[in-house]
Amino acid sequence: MPAKVRKAVFPAAGFGTRFLPATKSIPKEMLALVDKPLIQYGVEEALAAGCDQIIVVTARDKAAIEDHFDTSYELEAMLERRGKTDLLALVRQVSCMTQLATIRQKEAMGLGHAVLMARELVGDEPFAVILPDDVIDAPTPCLKQMVDIFDQVHSSILATQVVEGPAISAYGVLDGAHVPSNPRLFDVTGLVEKPRPAEAPSKNAIIGRYILTPKVFDLLEHTPLGAGGELQLTDGIKGLLQTEKVYGYSFEGTRHDAGDKFGMLKATVEFALKRDDLGPAFREYLKSLKL
Ligand code: UTP
Repeated sequence: MPAKVRKAVFPAAGFGTRFLPATKSIPKEMLALVDKPLIQYGVEEALAAGCDQIIVVTARDKAAIEDHFDTSYELEAMLERRGKTDLLALVRQVSCMTQLATIRQKEAMGLGHAVLMARELVGDEPFAVILPDDVIDAPTPCLKQMVDIFDQVHSSILATQVVEGPAISAYGVLDGAHVPSNPRLFDVTGLVEKPRPAEAPSKNAIIGRYILTPKVFDLLEHTPLGAGGELQLTDGIKGLLQTEKVYGYSFEGTRHDAGDKFGMLKATVEFALKRDDLGPAFREYLKSLKL
């Protein structure tokens, strides 16, 4: 098995119901956070972590994702004619960023099923999974932090963060203990998907970044569909725990759930305030609001 994580899988075949009606005809992954589609943040993170193969699991009506990373001759020609060199460079930078490989999930049968669709493209090597609506703002890109750990432990790693109170019920939750040599690392002994608050084994929720060994594909293949006819990725990972080590990694950075309206609003404010071109004026505008 190659020791390096070279491939990143982006499940992007869901319906994005939390963002209707915007997502009726626009893929959720293409919603803009300030001026960049959500999936571009994830792709940039994967490339910064050293992944050179980007695999997107798509569905009908998701062509905008592929188009975004493709060359747009008409747009480029128009920007060139009008002498808009800055915008031309911006547009070309996106199309030169990566050569996407895509595979369709014909029915949205859950995150585990979406990951399983990428099996042929991933092959027999460790790989990353990035959920594009989890945008992580971090000094070192979150996936890069995880790849650095993977290079030491050569085992599956799940990104986690502490979630307080009843909100924990929306997540997969880790059971396990801290690794003494690294306070950010957990030795995972169990996983509970969407527990009731009183039954959550810890406050450590799984966030949308994973590094997985290819064994998970065999396990997903043989996992029965769960609630709502969905194949859960966490069920596959639970199977991994029987034969392999799995670690939780408490990443450094701030995670925004941009697949949710409130999360997107917060992310928009925070990202806009950090921008040199928008931040100062936006800050003044926010201060002027009589709240
Ligand atoms: P989500 O549950 O956040 O996405 O899945 P969703 O189902 O599209 O959104 P809501 O909850 O209805 O608003 C996380 C990621 O997994 C993908 C989604 O596209 C999203 O990027 N996904 C989910 C799939 O690719 N296939 C599925 O069957 C389910």
